[in-house]
Amino acid sequence: MTLLGLNIDHVATLRNARGGAEPDPVQAALIAEENGADSIVCHLREDRRHIRDADVRRLRDSVKTSLQLEMALHQDVIAVALAIKPLEVMVVPERREEVTTEGGLDCVRHSRQLGDAIARFREAGIGVSVFMDAEAAQVAQAHALGAHTIELHTGPYCHAADAEPELLRLEAAAVQAKALGLEVHAGHGLNYRNIQQLLRRVPVSKVNIGHSVVSRSIFTGFAAAVREMKTLIEAVG
Ligand code: PXP
Repeated sequence: MTLLGLNIDHVATLRNARGGAEPDPVQAALIAEENGADSIVCHLREDRRHIRDADVRRLRDSVKTSLQLEMALHQDVIAVALAIKPLEVMVVPERREEVTTEGGLDCVRHSRQLGDAIARFREAGIGVSVFMDAEAAQVAQAHALGAHTIELHTGPYCHAADAEPELLRLEAAAVQAKALGLEVHAGHGLNYRNIQQLLRRVPVSKVNIGHSVVSRSIFTGFAAAVREMKTLIEAVG
């Protein structure tokens, strides 16, 4: 059964738009868990544009399933992660001017920095996932550097006019990673229309989804939006 990781960043985006306390991302996390989310994901960006340090601390203390902290290889965010100790961190590339994460981390190019960070997290007992494009060299490098998990970037699949070549790439990378003993997650751009086709083809143990669920929740309510996504995932098995 593929698990659902619910990304609550955009609940914080909405909260920050007015500078107050509502809507509360922690409350969203608890509602998500009650309605089928198997883990909660949040991204502590260098510019703190949505999730803030205090949110991560409150989530760590409140989440009943597991908390996955998405982050770039910035020293100040690494320090926060080592202090707060989420169950798992997911390492992503980050550019200040980007609207959202644009591509996978280049594990070959950033090998030394990534290897150092993975070693520090492993020593602290924190699992490490690396977000990457579906490429054989990236999978092999993440494995060599000691990552526990990879998250395959599904953005190209979600935006392709012809999904088939992207599905083949994702499938090959997932099969390679599993053969190496890595856990395989997938995420970015997944929605109510494209999730089932992905799951029928690509063997992943968890999908991380945020924007489409938070968007739908405006019309259906957050609990129903999470449940609907969970139902689609369960239907594939
Ligand atoms: N996985 C990663 C690595 C991400 O950066 C994001 C977006 O923060 C997601 C998954 C969730 O993507 P979306 O919000 O498009 O569902």
